[in-house]
Amino acid sequence: MKVLVLGGGAREHAITWSFSKSKSITGLFVAPGNAGTSDIAENLPDIDPCNSEMVVACCKQHEIDFVFVGPEAPLAAGVVDALHAAGIKAIGPHKQAAMLESSKAFSKNFMLKYNIPTASAIEIDSPKEFEKEINARKGKIVIKKSGLAAGKGVLESDDKEKLLAFGLDILKSDKLLIEEFLEGWEVTIFTLSDGKDYIILPPCADFKKAHDDDKGPNTGGMGAICPVPSLTSQMLDRIKKEIIEPTFKGMEKEGLCYKGIIYFGLMITTQGPKLLEYNVRFGDPEAQALIPLIQSDFGDLCEAIVMENIKSFPLKISKDTAICVVIAAGGYPGEYKKGAPVHYFPRFKEKYVVIFHASTLLDEENNIITNGGRCFSVVGLGADIITANKNAYVAAEEVYFKESFYRRDIGKKFFERG
Ligand code: AMP
Ligand code: GLY
Repeated sequence: MKVLVLGGGAREHAITWSFSKSKSITGLFVAPGNAGTSDIAENLPDIDPCNSEMVVACCKQHEIDFVFVGPEAPLAAGVVDALHAAGIKAIGPHKQAAMLESSKAFSKNFMLKYNIPTASAIEIDSPKEFEKEINARKGKIVIKKSGLAAGKGVLESDDKEKLLAFGLDILKSDKLLIEEFLEGWEVTIFTLSDGKDYIILPPCADFKKAHDDDKGPNTGGMGAICPVPSLTSQMLDRIKKEIIEPTFKGMEKEGLCYKGIIYFGLMITTQGPKLLEYNVRFGDPEAQALIPLIQSDFGDLCEAIVMENIKSFPLKISKDTAICVVIAAGGYPGEYKKGAPVHYFPRFKEKYVVIFHASTLLDEENNIITNGGRCFSVVGLGADIITANKNAYVAAEEVYFKESFYRRDIGKKFFERG
């Protein structure tokens, strides 16, 4: 099988790394890829994943059997619709199903229609109405940009001035939701679906704030852990019954089923699990923690999705824990510098540490340089969470570039009282 992975972040490096170990893969391409994927696959740096025509032509040229779409933007742009029209198989939703992620207004209406527990919300598209609502509210509330925002479209605050500035800025180009603030702890569940059946993968948690102790602005994600020790089997059963099953039933009714991933972003509250958001792809950085734990052949797993055999696929998952620490450029998620040379010493055994590249490039002398905000995902593996944490941080120390930074507390809240 020849496979094309779309995207160029650490999630796509993890996906490509998994395919590179598969016995059933005979050709592996990544568009655009990064310095890490160039070691294990053929990068196609000139292909824009959001340009469907270009992607289809590239698939024909390289005789691709199926395409794995990593990020949300090409999905929202309709790349899977174009691939299907050209007779090429793909893992990822068609454009309309991608609205479960690309429009928070659409997904909130879907949740309410199918009685899926979620935060109460109102949709707003006028600045006047917005100001009136904010002035009438008390306490902490949440404002969400309806469209895609790379993890930066949400503000939780009780500061009216900040809320007004954030919301009025969104309303220049999009609509927004004002949501009830939910107290609790967060967990992410992924399902893999073949369009008919689905399986549930081990729970993950990501660390969205830029700094230790969940301080600072929201980011795309500064770290992740898999599995999540505090999620009991009873709570998982409730999530299945109250959230996952009604979602699949609703999707079937609405003609939204697809071959691919659904990301359930959940808040566990004292009243039970509530759904914060759907995404229609693997999370980044959750995937970097989850994927190294998948022991089954990743090519075979994807073939089972494409061939509609997911229910009978003998999925094997390691009993280890994985902790992913993201190394970012100073200033991220605000302004940051690109082009810093990376002092990189990849001398770890894959049993303990895997390092995925995110925004990196090779310069003319084949040196790795940074090319964005989140630059590496360092994943520590271990039989328990403390060992995984230790392995991740020993490795994170070794990946250095000027003004790099990372959170020092990824996973700690699960084993330290504080
Ligand atoms: P979302 O993109 O909807 O997942 O929101 C990003 C992050 O904002 C979530 O992971 C939560 O940490 C936080 N968040 C979103 N909605 C709420 C809510 N209703 N109550 C509390 N926190 C929220
Ligand atoms: N880590 C959150 C996301 O991928 O949306």
